[in-house]
Amino acid sequence: MKAVVIPRLGDVDVLEVAQVDEPVLAPGQELVRVEAGGINFADIMTAQGGYPGTPKPPLVAGREFCGIRASDGKRVMGYMQWGAFAERVAASTALLWPVPREWSAEEGAAFPVNYFTAYFAYWKAGLLEKPADAPTPRVLIHAVAGGVGTAAVQIGKLLGVEMYGTSSSEEKLARVKALGLQHGINYRQCDYAEAIKDLTHGKGVDAVFEMLGGEHTMKSVRCLSDFGRVIVYGAATGQPALVDARMLYAKGASVHGLWLSYLSAKRDLMTKAWEQLSAWMAQGHLRPVVGHVLPLERAADAYRLLLERKNFGKVVLKLT
Ligand SMILES: NC(=O)c1ccc[n+]([C@@H]2O[C@H](COP(=O)([O-])OP(=O)(O)OC[C@H]3O[C@@H](n4cnc5c(N)ncnc54)[C@H](OP(=O)(O)O)[C@@H]3O)[C@@H](O)[C@H]2O)c1
Repeated sequence: MKAVVIPRLGDVDVLEVAQVDEPVLAPGQELVRVEAGGINFADIMTAQGGYPGTPKPPLVAGREFCGIRASDGKRVMGYMQWGAFAERVAASTALLWPVPREWSAEEGAAFPVNYFTAYFAYWKAGLLEKPADAPTPRVLIHAVAGGVGTAAVQIGKLLGVEMYGTSSSEEKLARVKALGLQHGINYRQCDYAEAIKDLTHGKGVDAVFEMLGGEHTMKSVRCLSDFGRVIVYGAATGQPALVDARMLYAKGASVHGLWLSYLSAKRDLMTKAWEQLSAWMAQGHLRPVVGHVLPLERAADAYRLLLERKNFGKVVLKLT
């Protein structure tokens, strides 16, 4: 069968479409015929060799997919660490979810990583349940126009959050505002920490969803109000997060880590998250934002869209 293969570690140009062996089912797994695969920043890091736990190449790329389950012919979406960008996958039954009838396969492939991650970011920020008399919480979402970012905006809108989001482009910010983002900050035109200070009249935000790393982790701490939380879940700059713990004392602030690879093995957490996400989906409140669909053969171009900050929402590879 056909698959996107990482033959050796390197930049995105190493990717190739090749014939690989059919998947062999292990206990707890089932066969899915893949229609589409969602591209994540983690796929780029995997190809480059910077993703923890990556097996030695050659390996099949891809961590989420949508397709037809062989056992009942139903459309499902699923999550795995690698191996998703192939015509058929052996998927863990616990990490397969039904796709709403009105969604396309591309939309299904854009769901698992973005929405579980965004949901857990609000969970870590302590914002899933807000007392009726509490003030409106404020959240700064970095890369707000990306895959996780657009999912975080849809969920934030449901939670009644005042959202501030960063992006490199006015055009992307205008599109996220249509999804419900209230305050767009173009970091190429202004300093986002200054913008947060101005927009919140010096108060700061209750949480920052931080996926840049390097100096941005500390800068995000500076955007917090009293007892605020920075949720660290990535390092798109390639730099490890830098935190001066002394800066946390002053405001009683904290920094939390979030890694879906780890949380996906916690059955109770995933079940609870799915209960809430699927309820919102059934009410028509969540719908993945698919910005780009490319054929499997153009996997390198698809990865490059994220790397070069040219994507809006999710980039999806189409298999059938
Ligand atoms: N911990 C977890 O479990 C977890 C799960 C999912 C994703 N993540 C992390 O969340 C982040 C977003 O992932 P995603 O797949 O949804 O990607 P994405 O946000 O759709 O794409 C990446 C976006 O990040 C922005 N960006 C800012 N600085 C960048 C830089 N130095 N290089 C490249 N892009 C930069 C760009 O948007 P602008 O041009 O608008 O700035 C770019 O479009 C990544 O850091 C990823 O590793 C973590």
